[in-house]
Amino acid sequence: MKKIVILSASPRKMGNSDLLCQQFKKGAEESGNSVEQIYLYDKKIEFCRACYACFKTGKCVLQDDMSEILEKMQSADVIVVATPTYFMTMNGMLKNTIDRFLPKWRELDGHDVYLIITGHDGKEGLKLVGEELTGIFKNLGNNIKGIVWGEGVWQKGEVRETKAMSEAHQLGHNC
Ligand SMILES: Cc1cc2nc3c(=O)[nH]c(=O)nc-3n(C[C@H](O)[C@H](O)[C@H](O)COP(=O)(O)O)c2cc1C
Repeated sequence: MKKIVILSASPRKMGNSDLLCQQFKKGAEESGNSVEQIYLYDKKIEFCRACYACFKTGKCVLQDDMSEILEKMQSADVIVVATPTYFMTMNGMLKNTIDRFLPKWRELDGHDVYLIITGHDGKEGLKLVGEELTGIFKNLGNNIKGIVWGEGVWQKGEVRETKAMSEAHQLGHNC
């Protein structure tokens, strides 16, 4: 049994990336894994202050939900990162969360990582998001195992009509 944590960066519950996360979760649970989906918008996550106190103490000076999220990521076998595309990149919620990886950036390695990316553009338009997230998580020392492209979807729920649903389910099954 693998422990899987999903970082879900969209503010839209039942939105396109959320639905793909749920499909991934369903597939992974059907294969006997334990899955927790974290809705980042429900958490208190402040901006990194670049004070570098964490370089000395290993801890962040900010008292919010980020230390708990980092602990969950560290203890997971598999990390799923889901974001809508905002102005050709990941959304601010996810970038803010990634900046807060700083206290543990040397200890977030060795995970299998899956990416879920949505946007109204076709895959060409979402490519940059995939490249950025692949670069970031590879640099931290992880393996990118798969990407679900929720392309061509704008309104909440449109992704239901696309093949990305079954792709997310399948990746969850096999993760
Ligand atoms: C501020 C903002 C910027 C956006 N920029 C892009 C973009 O550059 N490219 C794109 O394909 N979609 C863009 N979109 C559309 C969303 O990516 C799209 O609606 C996606 O399905 C949202 O995923 P969600 O339902 O998981 O929130 C943007 C949406 C918002 C709110």
